[in-house]
This record gives sequence, C-alpha cells and structure tokens, in this order.
Amino acid sequence: MKICVLGLGYIGLPTALLLAAHGADVVGVDVKQSVVDCLSLGNLPFSEPGLEDLYSKARCRFCVRSEPEAADVFLIAVPTPLDPATRVSNLAYARSAADMIVPHLRRGNLVILESTVPPGTSERVIIPRLEKSGVSIGDFLYAHCPERAIPGHTLPEMTGNSRIIGGYDRSSTDRATAVYQTFVRGQIYQTDARTAEFVKLMENTCRDVNIALANEFAQLAEECGINVWEAITLANKHPRVSILSPGPGVGGHCIAIDPWFLAENSTRCRMVSTARDINDSMPNYVLRIARSLLAGIQNPAISILGVAYKGNIGDTRESPAFKFAQLAENEGYAIRCHDPYAVEFAHPLMDIPEATTGSDCIVILTDHDLFRELDPAMLQVRTKLVIDARNILDHEKWTNQGFAVRVLGDGSPMPQIVPGDIAVPGGLYPVDTPQSIVSSSPPPISLLSQNGREGFL
Ligand SMILES: NC(=O)c1ccc[n+]([C@@H]2O[C@H](COP(=O)([O-])OP(=O)(O)OC[C@H]3O[C@@H](n4cnc5c(N)ncnc54)[C@H](O)[C@@H]3O)[C@@H](O)[C@H]2O)c1
Repeated sequence: MKICVLGLGYIGLPTALLLAAHGADVVGVDVKQSVVDCLSLGNLPFSEPGLEDLYSKARCRFCVRSEPEAADVFLIAVPTPLDPATRVSNLAYARSAADMIVPHLRRGNLVILESTVPPGTSERVIIPRLEKSGVSIGDFLYAHCPERAIPGHTLPEMTGNSRIIGGYDRSSTDRATAVYQTFVRGQIYQTDARTAEFVKLMENTCRDVNIALANEFAQLAEECGINVWEAITLANKHPRVSILSPGPGVGGHCIAIDPWFLAENSTRCRMVSTARDINDSMPNYVLRIARSLLAGIQNPAISILGVAYKGNIGDTRESPAFKFAQLAENEGYAIRCHDPYAVEFAHPLMDIPEATTGSDCIVILTDHDLFRELDPAMLQVRTKLVIDARNILDHEKWTNQGFAVRVLGDGSPMPQIVPGDIAVPGGLYPVDTPQSIVSSSPPPISLLSQNGREGFL
C-alpha cells in the first residue's frame, strides 16, 4: 500500500512514520522547504519522545517530497488555524492540500482528512474540491479521522488511543479502518464524516469548558478567602465530581481553538464562548495578582518562567504567556522570559540566571517538571516574590529561602507592598509580620498539604 501524507508537522510526521514502520510505503509531503530539507538530511524538524527511533525504523519505507504523487491513500494533516480577528477557521491549508491531490486522484483511492475542521467541512469543502479531478465521490473513498494525540506523548497516544473514523459511506469507513488498524491498538469506532468532525470538537470544547469552570471557581474562591486547591480536592471526593485544575489560561493548537470551530456558524452558542472568554482572561487575572504585589516597587521587573502552553514541551502555540507578557509590558513592567524547552517566543528567551537576576517577581506560567526542582537559593532576585500560577512549586522550600509565595487561587488577600519590605529575609513582609502571603494553614485535621494537594505531607 502506498500512502501520501500531506503535512509533516506534529501530527502528520509521526503518523507517516508509524504507517511506514508498519509496512506501508509512505511519501511525506510538505510545502515548507525547510521541513523537506531537514527530513531529507535524516534530521527531525521538531523533537518528540520516541520519534528519532521511529524515524530510523521507518526510513527505508519513507521518503519526503514537496509535491504529492500517485498513491493508494492520501492523508491530509495540514494546519487549520483560527483567524483571530473573526474567530472563524482558516481552511486555506486544507483547501490547498485537496487541490494538490486533485491531479493524482484515481478511482479506488482513499482520501483521509485528519486535520480538525468545523462540522460539514468534508462534504462542503474538501470532497467537492477533490471531485475536480473528474473522479466522483463513491468512485474514490473519503473519511475524516480526527487525531486525539497530545504533544509530548504523541506516539503512545497515536497507537494506544481509541479512534473515531467517519467515512463518506460504508466502504470508505471500512477502508480507512483497515489503514489505521495497521498501527492503532486502541478501539476503533465507526461513524459518518460529519459526526466525526463534531465529536472531535466536542471533546476539546468539553475540556475547555471544564477548565473554565475550575478557573471561575478559583476566582470565586478567592473572593471568599478560600484556597481553591483544597476546596477542589475535597469536592472531588464526591464520587461523581471531577473538577480540573485552575491555571493561567489555555493554549495549544486544539483546546484554545476548536471550541470556536464549533461556534463559528451558530447563533446558539453561549456556554462555549463564555468558557473561551473565561480562559482567555486568566492571564489578566495573574497580572492583577502581580500588579497588587508589585505596587510600590520602582521599575519592577517580572521573570516569566514557562512560555510553552503546557508542561514538559516547547510548543508555545496560543500560549497564555503571550498575552501575559504583552499585557505586562504594556503596563510598564520589564519582562524577562525563560523556558527550558521552547525555542520560539515573542520575547527573547534567556537562561534562568539572566531571566531572574534583579527580578522583582517570578511568575510560573507553565508546569514544567524542571521548575519543581528549581533551587530558590540560587536566584539573585531583587525582590523575593513568586507567583505560582500552576501550583507546582514546593512552597515550603521557597518560603524557607525568604520568598513570599502567592499561588493562583490560594484565597489570600491582595496585599500592598510598602517600600522597605523588599527582599527582606522573611519575604515581602517585615520579619515580625505573623502572616505570610501564602494561604492560611489548612484546618488542623486535614490530610491536605498547604497547596491543597493530597499526599504532599
Ligand atoms: N498538534 C496537535 O497536538 C494536534 C492534535 C490533534 C489534532 N491536531 C490537528 O492536526 C492538524 C495538523 O496539526 P499539526 O499540529 O500537525 O500542524 P503543524 O503546523 O505542526 O504541521 C502542519 C504542516 O503542514 C504543512 N502544510 C501546510 N499546507 C500544506 C499543504 N498544502 N501540503 C503539504 N503540507 C502542508 C506545514 O508546512 C506544516 O509543516 C490541525 O488541523 C490540528 O488542529 C493537532
């Protein structure tokens, strides 16, 4: 079986290599010359655990090109970004990929769309373009097979997750199922193309709405002086409650975008857009905390630790760090950014000493495991203040080094700093101040840690 994969990014490349490693002859196609050159030289355009090994296994059945060629199966995994101005999907890449297939499409071929698209895109946009080849749908087969893998864990998820396969008709669905069965160990569920498009969007919208709920709980809890982390842990003792973790916002190529694909052509969208707005406003909330803590400090500098949208990867797409940094800079704060994995960001990326020396506030925006191991004693800051927007630090370790620790959602009041309180050994407050700005202690009979997490004590 010869398969032509269009789009060799985070999704297309691992898929192409998995197909090749499981016996298909795969032609990988990308319009970006740098991607073609990089792969032709035997290198990978991005890093992902296990991808290097997979590439060496798959190389004998994989080649890379700038243009598609005749094949049995065409698989499209190109970007489907959101137009930020209109909040409408940009299907230009998907349309151009379909157009590139047209000259090579033959009777009996199968076209698979993996890219995430609004409901109805296959029928309204992709199939009609493919029919310009002169081959009608039915004479060629078509399926939408949305991808659920998560960056950083792509290969185990691509092989282990269940898949939804939505064909134009029964033979399309069965043929696409046979392609995925070569490497997918998870369950395969069959449906039609439009339902598959909708299901993918519902999944990510569900995540977004649930994160928004946790973020709203964090803000409501703070208004009541309650530590939301402890409250969530306790609420989750209910057998049918599972509240997610609050944080500085939602990023990435999927959760921050897909809900708009569901909403873009609807007049009934309420909860979906509200959830988006709540999550999009979380950088503002973190900045509000920083602003209140930094009041009174001359020429304050903020160190942003973590610009990737999630932990242990370097992907900065739609990261809340963009908005936080921009808002902070617009307010006059000097911004210094560090991320152990990211290579591209709107602001220069520095190493930890450069990003933190002389800083007045460290803001943890990404839950990289490496940040848990940071030694606060090594940091040459001007003001010993850290805002942990992910609740990942060992707060005792930081307070022992004189840092004032503020956790997003910890319920502590927004204090004002007075000049002279800067970087004293006990933190922001004079040594004899009884209460730190870390949240108040949990009740005496509690198995919860001070950051509201179980098993910490
Ligand atoms: N990254 C994820 O975690 C993830 C997860 C699930 C679904 N998806 C969806 O998968 C799709 C692909 O996402 P990605 O993260 O792999 O994108 P990406 O930006 O990493 O890679 C896409 C690649 O396609 C190439 N390309 C663009 N137009 C092309 C064309 N006409 N022909 C050939 N190549 C072309 C680009 O140059 C790029 O290298 C998107 O619809 C996305 O929403 C992504």
